[in-house]
Amino acid sequence: MPEVNELVNGVFWVGVRDWDRRLFDALVPLPYGTTYNAYVVVGDKKTALIDTVNPGFEGDLKAKLDVLGGMDKLDYLIMNHAEPDHAGTIPFVLEENKKLKLVLTEKGAKLAKVLYHVPDDRMMIVKQDDQIELGGKTLRFIEAPFLHWPETMFTYLVEDKVLFPCDFFGAHSAGGVFAEDVQDLLTLAKKYYGEIMMPFTKSAKQGMAKLEGLEISMIAPSHGPIHSDPEPIVLAYLDWTSGETKEKVTICYVTMWQSTKTLVDKMVEILLEEGIETKVYSLPVSDMANIAGDLVDSRAIVLGSPTVLNGLHPQALYAASLVKVLRPPAKYAAVLSSFGWSGGAVKQALEILGPTKIEVVGAVDVNGRPTAEDLKKVEELARSLVEKVRSG
Ligand code: FEO
Repeated sequence: MPEVNELVNGVFWVGVRDWDRRLFDALVPLPYGTTYNAYVVVGDKKTALIDTVNPGFEGDLKAKLDVLGGMDKLDYLIMNHAEPDHAGTIPFVLEENKKLKLVLTEKGAKLAKVLYHVPDDRMMIVKQDDQIELGGKTLRFIEAPFLHWPETMFTYLVEDKVLFPCDFFGAHSAGGVFAEDVQDLLTLAKKYYGEIMMPFTKSAKQGMAKLEGLEISMIAPSHGPIHSDPEPIVLAYLDWTSGETKEKVTICYVTMWQSTKTLVDKMVEILLEEGIETKVYSLPVSDMANIAGDLVDSRAIVLGSPTVLNGLHPQALYAASLVKVLRPPAKYAAVLSSFGWSGGAVKQALEILGPTKIEVVGAVDVNGRPTAEDLKKVEELARSLVEKVRSG
């Protein structure tokens, strides 16, 4: 029997569990797999499917819908978001049920056309606060642009106070039905926030503002378990979207012959001595999701890299580029580098970090093995960084 879970009366989870997926967007590691959550809302007169599933799971979705009366029973397909992990199966569902209307925002319609070739006459465009009556169940739409694509919307089930916010409030975990079933869910959700939502902090704040005053008794996101008690995830999101940082430094480094690591070790020693929360990632063996999670509330970032071919080591270049695109709320940075015969790593790091809002407090660039004098410079830089971090 396919797994179908009734969340509240007439609201069913018909998503799928992808235990084996290990990468998202060919970038984000998924150590615990993920789910593609889809939901059915059954009213007295009409039935709606909210989102679909990743391509490749069409048969699973169909089998689950069969449990609830089959594809023919559907009247509306709500597209909260056009990314293929939720919308990729839309063409299959539209083909199976020729009377079905695809409900989406105006920007969603543009994407549905180019990504899935949905014809105009199958689409029903909605805007902020529009509602669809299913009979005893009312779906209200809340536009949530750039959370995390421009067309994104949330769907709110008025009578049962259930919010379907698509990727927002999500987490990558294939296990569990409800939040309490998954250990350390907020840690997973924080990493996910850092990877997906942090580049859109302003939009995320606006999204949270739109939810103010809305009574929410359950949050049913598109990835990971369902929050039957919304408070912990809402409080966490209020914190993460605030852009507030902690007295915390995240260090990302790569070393080839230990010179850069010697500099990093000195930096870590001073930061810990000063009581600063310090997270250290050796880039070649680190999970990008852990770094993204720590960047959500770090006040400073330290990048360590040897010079390789007149610039940053490729792993450090990748980390610097990630910092640039993820737009963490960090205020300060420092660079530690070593070189053999010509430098270039620091210059390239500054070129990347320069246009960001992050103030580069300083850099230490060492020729060869670090001497006691070099380590003194690192100590001075570390103490300057501590002063900045403590200043807020
Ligand atoms: Fe889970 Fe943006 O798709």
